[in-house]
Amino acid sequence: MILLCLLITQMFLFWITSAQCPAGCQCANKEVNCNGQGMTNVPLSFRLYKYDKLDLSNNLISVISSDALANFFVKEILIRNNSIFYIDDNAFRGLGDRLEVLDISYNKLATLPTAFRYLNTLFSLDIRGNPIPVSGFIDSVTRAIGDTVTKFAFGHLTALQKWPPGISHFPRLTDLELDGAYIFYLPQNSFHSFENTLTNLTIQNTQLSTVPLGLSHLSRLLEFHFDHNHNAGDNGIIEQSFVGLSKLRTLSLKDNRLNSFPFVLNPLVELNDLSLDDNKLIVISDEAVKDINNSKIQNLRLVNCSLDRIPGAITGRNGNLQHLQLLDFSKNNIKSLDRIDLQNLHSLQTLYLAGNQNLQYVSDSALSNLLNLTSIDLSDTGIKTVPNAFKNIPSLQYLNLENDSIECTCDLVDFKIRVDKTELRNGQILGNCATITSSIRNYLDNFVIHCPEYNSFTSAIPVVG
Ligand SMILES: *[C@@H]1O[C@H](CO)[C@@H](O)[C@H](O)[C@H]1NC(C)=O
Ligand SMILES: *[C@@H]1O[C@H](CO)[C@@H](O)[C@H](O)[C@H]1NC(C)=O
Ligand SMILES: *[C@@H]1O[C@H](CO)[C@@H](O)[C@H](O)[C@H]1NC(C)=O
Ligand SMILES: *[C@@H]1O[C@H](CO)[C@@H](O)[C@H](O)[C@H]1NC(C)=O
Ligand SMILES: *[C@@H]1O[C@H](CO)[C@@H](O)[C@H](O)[C@H]1NC(C)=O
Ligand SMILES: *[C@@H]1O[C@H](CO)[C@@H](O)[C@H](O)[C@H]1NC(C)=O
Repeated sequence: MILLCLLITQMFLFWITSAQCPAGCQCANKEVNCNGQGMTNVPLSFRLYKYDKLDLSNNLISVISSDALANFFVKEILIRNNSIFYIDDNAFRGLGDRLEVLDISYNKLATLPTAFRYLNTLFSLDIRGNPIPVSGFIDSVTRAIGDTVTKFAFGHLTALQKWPPGISHFPRLTDLELDGAYIFYLPQNSFHSFENTLTNLTIQNTQLSTVPLGLSHLSRLLEFHFDHNHNAGDNGIIEQSFVGLSKLRTLSLKDNRLNSFPFVLNPLVELNDLSLDDNKLIVISDEAVKDINNSKIQNLRLVNCSLDRIPGAITGRNGNLQHLQLLDFSKNNIKSLDRIDLQNLHSLQTLYLAGNQNLQYVSDSALSNLLNLTSIDLSDTGIKTVPNAFKNIPSLQYLNLENDSIECTCDLVDFKIRVDKTELRNGQILGNCATITSSIRNYLDNFVIHCPEYNSFTSAIPVVG
């Protein structure tokens, strides 16, 4: 009898605990995770109190009906990449004073749902990838959520054809992202209402041909990303737009149609990170060089910029980038690394040259001044030997030679001896030998030590003790 009682209690307990997690979902770490389960409806649930986050992304939900979400008493709902075209006015009932983050991006909404009006604590809203035209930014909705929203992401490649005036109801915005728009021009006052609050602005995948002039009024801006705007060429990066951005730390101008190094850095006295990836940089003008010469840039990324040599104007000969710590030249067509190419970059710590498939020559003294260099990525290049230049870098801890055709022979003795004396001894050397089935590291540790040159070297060292 007691046993039976116990059994029933246990079954009951099991029922209660399992009942808390809806079918098809996993509940752990304060999160109800129903991601990618092929669901066509919001799953049924008993009232949940102990979770903060509900993830319904990558399902096939098309409608959020009245009260559907009320029992998930969470602060954050992710429901991106479904097929939602309709949200009942009472869909968020019960969550109005709790929900803070809503990601409903990549659905089929054609207007901002009126249900959003009841979300009194919402601070982050992502509606990117919904076909909402400017008329879908219903005034009463933007007004209602505008009091609390600080992060807003929106945009649709074809449906959005004008800057939505409703955004002027968001006076607290710190983060704004426009991702996708058939917009050719932004009015100068586009950012007017949050000029004094915005810190992070992203504008990408639009038809804009110029950086918006209104930018220059964003005096608190720390990050600006203007990427994948294929109509924007050199003439679109107007210096005037950047005047006033004296706090800007990160500037990204990736995958536009730039052919020359932008001449906008002068006013950006705090700039730390600059990325110009995926532009065909043909011209690096003297003005631009002067400009960058005076900057405090720490991280410079020029990935896939069609460079056929290290732009000496920036880094070597006349350059003066005393603060540069990271330099990324991956996926270019650089063929050699000469003595003067990087000679003035005394602070350099990380150098990426991966994917320069024709890189074959590295001067012996190319890196000799770089006392703080800790990491070099030379993967997927044309080099066949470990360059002598790498033998003298005292701080090197990471050397990536993956996908290179390194010939492992007793010629590596010199390198091995250096490795033993430097940080690289305990660091990482990645990549395999082309001439023998072995990793380079294994070859150094287990083969090179049997090379006659190595033995004559080590036996020449007096034994202490
Ligand atoms: C969207 O969700 C479907 C499953 O419903 C999935 O197959 C697809 O990969 C997802 N798309 C993206 C971009 O995540
Ligand atoms: C700024 O916004 C971009 C795009 O939304 C994001 O990737 C980045 O992490 C944001 N930066 C900060 C500091 O939040
Ligand atoms: C390199 O940039 C070009 C645009 O200049 C782009 O079309 C291409 O896809 C990029 N390649 C890679 C490997 O990212
Ligand atoms: C960059 O700065 C260095 C040192 O201040 C100076 O010698 C050099 O001429 C400058 N280069 C250019 C192109 O202005
Ligand atoms: C090299 O690193 C050391 C220790 O982190 C630092 O004190 C020194 O300023 C660095 N040198 C340069 C030129 O950045
Ligand atoms: C090496 O090559 C393989 C096959 O081409 C590729 O998948 C991998 O990403 C490459 N790895 C590196 C580090 O370049």
